[in-house]
Amino acid sequence: MKIDFQDQTVLVTGATRGMGKQFADDFAKLGADLILTGTDKDKIETLNREARRDKQSSRKYYAVDFANAESTKAFIEAIDAYQKIDVCINNAGINRINFIDETLIEDWKEILAVNLEAPFMITRAVSRLMKKNRYGRIINIASIFGIISKAKRSIYTTTKFGLHGLTVTAAIELAPYNVLVNSVSPGFVLTELTKSILSEAEMEDLARQVPMGRFAEPDEISRVVLFLASSLNTYLTGQNIVVDGCFVNV
Ligand SMILES: NC(=O)c1ccc[n+]([C@@H]2O[C@H](COP(=O)([O-])OP(=O)(O)OC[C@H]3O[C@@H](n4cnc5c(N)ncnc54)[C@H](OP(=O)(O)O)[C@@H]3O)[C@@H](O)[C@H]2O)c1
Repeated sequence: MKIDFQDQTVLVTGATRGMGKQFADDFAKLGADLILTGTDKDKIETLNREARRDKQSSRKYYAVDFANAESTKAFIEAIDAYQKIDVCINNAGINRINFIDETLIEDWKEILAVNLEAPFMITRAVSRLMKKNRYGRIINIASIFGIISKAKRSIYTTTKFGLHGLTVTAAIELAPYNVLVNSVSPGFVLTELTKSILSEAEMEDLARQVPMGRFAEPDEISRVVLFLASSLNTYLTGQNIVVDGCFVNV
């Protein structure tokens, strides 16, 4: 039994750093052709230059800001031009924390656009290709804050609860086409997003509350995503796989 993505096209959003970059690197090692996104145009140009020199796997990066409707629309048009996308990882996500009564409406709109509307638009586009090809694996990167919540997480939590709603409905609709759709809900992972939200002291305190006694590394989430995205997964669909070192159970 071997996980292999040879001859498969895999889309990962938010693949320039954090978990998305880890997923992209791991899919590349396993032979996938990649469609990847990030927001910084200069960085994307550099990454595309480097990708052209890499003979191992084909990687095409797109500069797209999911907070900008025009940018998202242009990216959806680019997806529509593909003949085949086998795997889609809706990973790009942002968070800004605040008490509900101090929340900015701009933050509500932006976080919803990036964390929920973009995955919906992308799922809508890739599911057409996947239905036609009678094969697909979609994974939405949700969060433990799609199951539980915490003060100051009203917007983020709303998007992650919503994302799993999208997973379940798409899984029901797409099952007859051999398109399997799941959520993966990481706990606390050591990425820039985490470091931008939590202080060192908060991270240490939270790590003590995780039964595993530490935060996750991105590759520990990636290994779960790789299985769900692979052809080894033939029957697991509509589920939310929580990878949190047992945090939500205590
Ligand atoms: N870190 C955690 O502990 C944790 C826990 C549970 C769930 N998650 C979820 O896991 C996913 C990845 O998180 P991460 O920690 O790896 O994040 P990260 O390190 O902050 O990386 C976020 C990625 O999303 C892209 N992105 C940011 N804003 C965007 C926008 N407006 N439009 C399009 N793309 C945008 C970034 O692109 P640029 O590099 O160009 O900015 C980057 O590639 C998110 O959905 C997050 O909610 C994270």
